[in-house]
Order: sequence, then structure tokens, then C-alpha cells
Amino acid sequence: MARDPEIVVVDPDIDARSDTAHMLEAADLSVVGEADYGIDAVTMAKERPPDVFLVSMEEPVARAIQTIEMLVSAAPQAATIVVSSLADAGSVRSAMVAGARDYLIKPLKPEDVTRAVYGVLEQEERRRQQADGELGETAARGTIITIFGAKGGIGKTTVATNLATSLVRITNSNVCLVDMDTRFGDVAIMMDVAVEHSIADLGHRIDELDRESIKEALTEHHTGVSILPAPLHPTEWRNLTPQHIERIVNLLAQGHDYIIIDTPGTFNEIIAATLELGDIILLMTSMDIASIKDTALALEMLRAAEISEDKVKLIINHSTSANTLREEDVERVLEYDVTWRIPHDYNVANSNQLGIPIVIAKPYARVSRAVTEMAHALSGTPQERKGFLERFLGRAS
Ligand SMILES: Nc1ncnc2c1ncn2[C@@H]1O[C@H](COP(=O)(O)OP(=O)(O)OP(=O)(O)O)[C@@H](O)[C@H]1O
Ligand SMILES: [Mg+2]
Repeated sequence: MARDPEIVVVDPDIDARSDTAHMLEAADLSVVGEADYGIDAVTMAKERPPDVFLVSMEEPVARAIQTIEMLVSAAPQAATIVVSSLADAGSVRSAMVAGARDYLIKPLKPEDVTRAVYGVLEQEERRRQQADGELGETAARGTIITIFGAKGGIGKTTVATNLATSLVRITNSNVCLVDMDTRFGDVAIMMDVAVEHSIADLGHRIDELDRESIKEALTEHHTGVSILPAPLHPTEWRNLTPQHIERIVNLLAQGHDYIIIDTPGTFNEIIAATLELGDIILLMTSMDIASIKDTALALEMLRAAEISEDKVKLIINHSTSANTLREEDVERVLEYDVTWRIPHDYNVANSNQLGIPIVIAKPYARVSRAVTEMAHALSGTPQERKGFLERFLGRAS
């Protein structure tokens, strides 16, 4: 939308609606009218429908709900956003069933209103384009998980290889592991596969690639994980631009349910592209002061790049046994919740050396259980509980 969105505030309380209108204007939103519930609002909807109706809803909710229903039928092209102090699921549901597009809970913050207004209008625009056939059919696309960390040696590749393996085991779906370590990619070593083709080879024929032909560059691991290795020599990354990376990852996402991207402990424009592409970013940190400091900077950088915090999950990996800090201190310093914790486990080094993911070599090791739990959460599959004997035999093997 080229012009500013026009908003009408609907509230039976005259003082409250003028307060809301002032707040919206202070947030640079354009209020083109104010109305009471019922006929007053509906007349406005018919005569000069705005882009958005901001409708207040308090107990008893009957008139507000009736007004929303009438607005939706009088001006279907306008989006209705409800503002309410009622936070219970029943009230939210009633408003949405009546036709509201979003529901904001008081006290209102100007930035929340701005986000909601532009969010519903974008949705509306997409719906219109879809109806007019301006958008192609939505292509099915897998989930892209980027594993990122501000430092080297904190367990990114360990988590990437084991998470990919675990996702195949749990979901039996197509998982592609992409080695985007632009220095010394070691996914192939940790999975013990020979590198026949690498991501750098794809740069030469980027325009000919499609979702089927790109699969020729993948190496099939015996676990079922498809691997796109890094080039053997780091200078070969020069063949690839961020636009290449975007195309490669998007094509892979059309043919796989999950794309796991391993990255180096450095930052460059290729890594920036993988962060932009990620549906989920697993931000890894170890428990030493240097790593925490660098993670604080990484969080700052992700915020500056306007990557939504909902996507960024913080993981603490106890990659060394030294433990000077407590996890609570890490959360306090970073002002960020830790989503997953991976314990220290001496079996990891051995598995990595042998080139067998630890979730296969030692499925009941502490690290394996932590990564498996993560894979269950990420894939939304419930964790089955093993019986005592099964666990006992598993550990003994
Ligand atoms: N939870 C853990 N317990 C014990 N050792 C671990 C754990 N996680 C990682 N390690 C060990 O830490 C070292 C670094 O791991 P890894 O190579 O996965 O890190 P990375 O972040 O990918 O490093 P780089 O940025 O250099 O690629 C390895 O020797 C690995 O065996
Ligand atoms: Mg690595």
C-alpha cells in the first residue's frame, strides 16, 4: 500500500476513543474517524470504509461482537482489529469468529498497534493477490533451521549432524544437512562421507538448477540424511554469492522437510543470507565468558538485522566440562531465555572422531537424549517413553 493506512476507532466511550485516537496519531498512524458501536460505525463503513477498524471490546461483549459482524459484512475489504482488556481464550475466540483479524490486549503499546495494522493489511493484500491470481500457488517448503554461534569450537557442527540424524529417525522425513562453514567445513568428516560434489560446484550452474537436479549434488548418508558438503578448499567459496545461497537453500527446501544449515564461528554475507533464510535460528553458546560476550553481540546483531526473536532459540552447550558460570547468570546477562541445554559428555569427542553421530553410536548418552528431545520439540512429535528394560539394554549396548 503506497499511502498510509486509514483507521477508524470504534468505542462507545467517547473519552477512551479520543485517547486511543491520540495515541495512534502519536505513533504516526492516520485516524480518519471515530464512531460508536452499531449504526454509527456501520454508516461510516458504508459511506467511507477505512483500511482498518480498531474496535474496543469489554464486558458485556455482545454489542461489540454484533458491531464487528456488521462491519465485516458492510465493509469486507476493511480489516477489524479488536482492542480489549479481556485476555481469556473465550473472548478472543468470539472476536475472531465474528470476523476480527487480530486481537490486542490492553494496555496498548503504540508499536503493537502499528505491527498489527501493517500485519493485517499485508495479509489482506496477499489474500487479494491470491484471489486475483497474481500470486502463484503457494509452494510447499520445508523448515529451514540455521545453526549459528558467535564463536568456533562450541559444538555447532556436533549439534547440526546429530539434529539432522535425529530428525530422520524421529520423523522419517527428508532431511538435508548443508555445510555452510565458509572456512573449514567438517560436516563430511563428522559424518564420515567422501566429498564428491560440494556446494561450490552449484555456483557454476546456478541458473540450470531445479529442485530435482540439485539433488545430484547431495551425498546420501546411511542414516538417510542428505548432505551438501562444503568445498574441500575454502577459496572455492568465492564462486558463491548470497543470491546463490538463497537459490540453493530455497530449492533444497522445496524437496526436503528440513534443511539444517551449519555455519562457522565467523560472520560474512553468506552467513547473513543463511540467517535471513532460517525459519528457526539455533543460537549456540558455550558456558565461558568469551562465548557469552560474543553471544550478546550476536543477539544485538540479529536484532539490528530485524530477525524476529520468535525465531531465535538460545542453546547452551556444555562443550567443555569447566563450569564457572550458572545457566541463570547466562540468561540474566543476555536477557534472553535458554530454550535447550546440552550437557557435557565425553562420548562426543569419540563419536566425532569416528565419524558416527552420537545419536546413533550411543543413543542413550546424555547428549543424545538432549538432541533427541530438541528434535522432538522442533518437529512437534511427542516423545515416546521407553520402558526401564529397553533403556537399560540401550545403555548397556
Ligand atoms: N556437549 C559436548 N560435550 C562434550 N564435548 C563436546 C560437546 N559439544 C561439542 N563438543 C566437542 O567440542 C569440540 C568442538 O565441536 P564442534 O566442532 O561441533 O564445534 P563447532 O562450533 O562446529 O566449531 P567450528 O566453529 O570450529 O566449526 C569437538 O571436539 C566436540 O567433540
Ligand atoms: Mg563446525
